[in-house]
Amino acid sequence: MKALIASGGRGTRLRPLTHTQNKHLIPIANKPILHYAIEAAVDAGIKQIGIVCNADSHEVQDVIGTGKQWGVKIAYIPQKAPLGLAHVVKIAQKFIGKDDFIFYLGDNMVVGGVKRFIEEFEKSDCNAFLTLAKVKDPERFGVPEIKKGKIVRVEEKPKKPKSQFAVAGIYIYDSSIFEAVKKIKPSARGELEISDAHTYLINKGYNVGYSEITGWWKDTGKPSDLLEANRLVLDNMHPSLNGVIDKASTVVGKVILQEGSKIMNSVVRGPATIGRNTVIENSYIGPFTSIGDNTVIRDAEVEYSIVLRDCKILNVKLRIEGSILGNDVEIVEANGKPHVHRFMIGDQSRVEVA
Ligand code: DAU
Repeated sequence: MKALIASGGRGTRLRPLTHTQNKHLIPIANKPILHYAIEAAVDAGIKQIGIVCNADSHEVQDVIGTGKQWGVKIAYIPQKAPLGLAHVVKIAQKFIGKDDFIFYLGDNMVVGGVKRFIEEFEKSDCNAFLTLAKVKDPERFGVPEIKKGKIVRVEEKPKKPKSQFAVAGIYIYDSSIFEAVKKIKPSARGELEISDAHTYLINKGYNVGYSEITGWWKDTGKPSDLLEANRLVLDNMHPSLNGVIDKASTVVGKVILQEGSKIMNSVVRGPATIGRNTVIENSYIGPFTSIGDNTVIRDAEVEYSIVLRDCKILNVKLRIEGSILGNDVEIVEANGKPHVHRFMIGDQSRVEVA
């Protein structure tokens, strides 16, 4: 069994964060999203991982490396343009060879890993095995139509979904999927849809099975998904305090504080994680907050938020909540007269003021 992980695409729904970095490298609980996909494959005992990435960038290779840190081999497969998930599979055929493989969308996160699905697939005589999750908004996803316990069709982002299920971005295949991805045609939006490949397999009589994800699963396509994924990961983490906490501070709940960081005259209520060489002073950090390295938060309150590295939040009167700050962002008090809000914001940013 090999693993194929998709990390291409443009991440348009996560702009402006994705103007300067690949969406799969955005940290959740101070760890790139892509690490969670790699770790799921590693936990399932997989030793060879192929990562499909944008051909015009070396960012993913630079951050993820050879796989040595996980004891696995990672091969990179460049994709010239985001031509669809079936295209991702198509260009990976040489890497996969004749092996079975798990195809994992690099922006998906699932609690409990993928080992159980691989075991189910291996016990079955399925050619393809899909994971389904019950969602409130199936029209955003690939949706299966299920009759008498069998998937009879999968539709991509249907206006009138035939079930309440989303096909999650965790699929297991034998090599019959390569026939499907070569036979299907691009959809109206110009992509080779993985849902069409699944319908092709069903129509040709291949055995397409499924299992329901009953726990937590998320496609981190939108900013609110990132915050929710961050909340869940923080809720399940192990606390460790390696920085300095002065006597005037209160730290309660599960908190990770990394080396070189200081909490002074502040209250930190976990679950929360604070990276390296970061200073929290005269401040409140509330539950479900991740703060990156080399950041300063002084005279401010931050809760249910993700703050990346090298940020400054200084003398901010209102609590910052439900927010995502990219690298090197400053939110500071406006000095002098007139008393105003002053913005210096990049393309496609969003600010909500009280
Ligand atoms: O998350 C599950 C959903 O993922 C499924 O229910 C849908 O059937 C499936 O089409 C997909 O829908 P999305 O709209 O979420 O796909 P998205 O374009 O966001 O791409 C998913 C991942 O694959 C993301 O990590 C980017 C990467 N990707 C995407 C395309 C289109 C590539 O690496 N190359 C591509 O060409």
